[in-house]
Amino acid sequence: MKNILVIGSTGQIGSELTMILRKTHPEGTVVAGYIPGAEPKGELLESGPSEVADVRNGQQLSDIVGKYRIDTIYNLAALLSAVAERKPLMAWDIQMNGLLNILEVARENGCAVFTPSSIGSFGPSTPKTDTPQDTIQRPTSMYGVTKVATELLSDYYHSKYGLDTRSVRFPGLISYTTLPGGGTTDYAVEIYYAAVKGEEFVCPIAAGTFMDMMYMPDALRAAIEIMEADPARLIHRNSFNIASMSFDPEILAAAIRKEIPDFKMRYEVDPVREAIAQSWPDRMDDSCARAEWGWAPRYDLETMTKDMIVNLKKKLQP
Ligand code: SER
Repeated sequence: MKNILVIGSTGQIGSELTMILRKTHPEGTVVAGYIPGAEPKGELLESGPSEVADVRNGQQLSDIVGKYRIDTIYNLAALLSAVAERKPLMAWDIQMNGLLNILEVARENGCAVFTPSSIGSFGPSTPKTDTPQDTIQRPTSMYGVTKVATELLSDYYHSKYGLDTRSVRFPGLISYTTLPGGGTTDYAVEIYYAAVKGEEFVCPIAAGTFMDMMYMPDALRAAIEIMEADPARLIHRNSFNIASMSFDPEILAAAIRKEIPDFKMRYEVDPVREAIAQSWPDRMDDSCARAEWGWAPRYDLETMTKDMIVNLKKKLQP
């Protein structure tokens, strides 16, 4: 990887990934792609070039790839699961037509492409615990439908055209830098903000509903390590299960109370997000990622919670 385009560079993952790639690839150019209304600011804006990169505009992508001699594209443009249920056509347009534009530009220019998949690519007929790498994928959300199709289309471009497509199935991602927007797992981020502000948290996910979660530093490392992995070792490509922790709201609240003992939570379950959460795995088996490219998480619930609270205290202090 030398010249990299990050599409969705101002989002939850992109805002941190772009900065890490700029630090770890000083010899190359890392372009921050964004859509109007979500312009990069501060360090993200000042530390390298940025360009409007709307996945729905193939010519725009082609121009950026040519201008900066891009060899790797991180495609992080997506509507998350709860928003995608409200805007299914827009989700399809961004996630599928957008992906097709990216894959075509990549094919013409020989770029490697990372497009994340998700726990959302699984559905109610998938084994819930130790969810295997290769298993039933019949999701019931629009987000999930687009993620399965993303995996298939990415693998198709690899087998048909030899395009270097690789990816991971992200769990719910927890971070203190940029908020996620409209996902089912967002509660696991919002709960920390409420706790640090001394507010009661109103939880939209029911007690007893488990989902895979991951701290952002591990997720960013996974996105970089999979793209740098030795291709000769890869049996799978799109996409690898990766896991680090699994919890329900009660376990998460208990972990926060070890740091903030008077933290309070009550439930107001959102039926849309709860139904999506119920259809997703409780915990994925990530043994293929471990075997094929050496994946290993570094954070667990306790170490993540300490780090989140320390950093949010700094961020939210008046
Ligand atoms: N975090 C995503 C969501 O909740 C799942 O990948 O939509």
